[in-house]
Amino acid sequence: MKRVPSGILPLVSVDRNAGLALHRQIYDSFRAAILDGRLRPGQRIPSTRVLASEIGVSRFPVLSAYDQLLAEGYTESRVGAGTLVCASLPEQLMSARPQRTNPASVRSGPRRVADRCGLLPRRQAVPWVVPPGPFRVGQIAFDQFPHQIWLRLLARRGRAVSAETLHYGDLKGSPALRQAIANYLKVARSVRCDAEQVLVVNGSQQALEISARVLLNPGDRVWVENPSYRLARDVFTLNGCRMVPVPVDGEGLEVSAGIKACRAARAVFVTPSHQFPLGVTMSASRRLQLVDWAQNSGSWILEDDYDSEFRYESQPIASLQGLDPNSRVIYIGTFSKILFPSLRLGYLVVPPDLIERFHVMRRLMDLGMPTLSQQVLADFIDAGHYARHIRRMRVHYGENRRLLAESLDRILGGKLQLIGDEAGMHLTVMLPKGYNDEEISHRAVREGLSLWPLSRLYMKNPRQGFILGFGGVAAKEIPAAVRKLHNLLSRTEGRRAQA
Ligand SMILES: Cc1ncc(COP(=O)(O)O)c(C=O)c1O
Repeated sequence: MKRVPSGILPLVSVDRNAGLALHRQIYDSFRAAILDGRLRPGQRIPSTRVLASEIGVSRFPVLSAYDQLLAEGYTESRVGAGTLVCASLPEQLMSARPQRTNPASVRSGPRRVADRCGLLPRRQAVPWVVPPGPFRVGQIAFDQFPHQIWLRLLARRGRAVSAETLHYGDLKGSPALRQAIANYLKVARSVRCDAEQVLVVNGSQQALEISARVLLNPGDRVWVENPSYRLARDVFTLNGCRMVPVPVDGEGLEVSAGIKACRAARAVFVTPSHQFPLGVTMSASRRLQLVDWAQNSGSWILEDDYDSEFRYESQPIASLQGLDPNSRVIYIGTFSKILFPSLRLGYLVVPPDLIERFHVMRRLMDLGMPTLSQQVLADFIDAGHYARHIRRMRVHYGENRRLLAESLDRILGGKLQLIGDEAGMHLTVMLPKGYNDEEISHRAVREGLSLWPLSRLYMKNPRQGFILGFGGVAAKEIPAAVRKLHNLLSRTEGRRAQA
């Protein structure tokens, strides 16, 4: 049986002036709660002593009501567990259930909500994100995470909680973590910053939302890479911005095409270290061109540096922020790739003159991140575990990527064109002409494969292909998964030949 919360006090109302005996009122309240499902089968109900004290009556009416519920089969008592709602209610009791009336929204049709709700497409369940099988994008190698170390640090901090650590934490992020992030970014990513400029947030997504609220007005135009990260686009849409898709080639964002399309754009969203999803690295000359454009047109650069630590053919490429002498870059980073996404910790590095505005905006969105996880993460970084974990994962993911590229080549014989650099946790492949990636992705789910269709990430001129995550797949499963992909494509070819 599914576990249900127990010992929670249901709303039992007693009114001494109601002209109805107290035990009857208590009985009625429980009966109604059981029949309409508020109290679920197997759920423990409070002891007579607790309930009597909570509702301010003596134990006698409560005992009497409980006896009656027991006698009629609504509850049962179990040694050691107290009184529980009966696991299976008899038929005749079920027929006493009140008829469910339609909720108000169904009776009256769609109800009025803010216009901005209409700006975003309705949430569609995309099947390829659900199975944790081969090629799910963003999946980390769970079994490689140093759980024991993490748990030890967590236990140590957990034992040392105080009134202060349980109170609201620093809205900007815990000072120790901000310092640890600044130290890391300066050395490993050539970011120009001190801890004051670092703001700890709930992942890149929140970083983007805060940035858009601080920097952009409705109607402002924003360059976005075409193709690009969907959730970033949703932020701009919701903030009323107009997006200008800018093509990406082997050197990253085509800055001159952006200038031609809209020189006066207020901002650009870029993933220069490892373009999402195509995987290319922005060249030095494009970086300088972008920084120049931002300075000349008074625009902001939102740099999403989501997985730059993982490069397998060379050293990680320095951040764009570190190249910019004009403080026009808002640098965004996340722990979702290196550690794990449910940690929900990321950060922003903000130019000094904007720090105050970012803090004010952030306070409206939430009151800071949980202190305990920030402390544990700061300890993890300061003790050198973070750097060690990155080094280990670079080897692990690098091997997965090599094996995936080799299997694609050997099994598919060059049918799919691999693009992008040897980096990150995903590899993007282009389909030959005539294939429909989304159609294949739907069929792949039935085979246990998660193939993210590339065409979905374009705003215009979509190309067909797949984004293949290799982070969460075991090396020994890769060739078999590629064979499945091969079979899927062969069947698609067969169908096309018959049509
Ligand atoms: C381009 C890009 N940026 C950022 C993220 C991470 O977002 P978050 O930090 O909100 O988990 C992802 C996750 O898949 C991503 O693909």
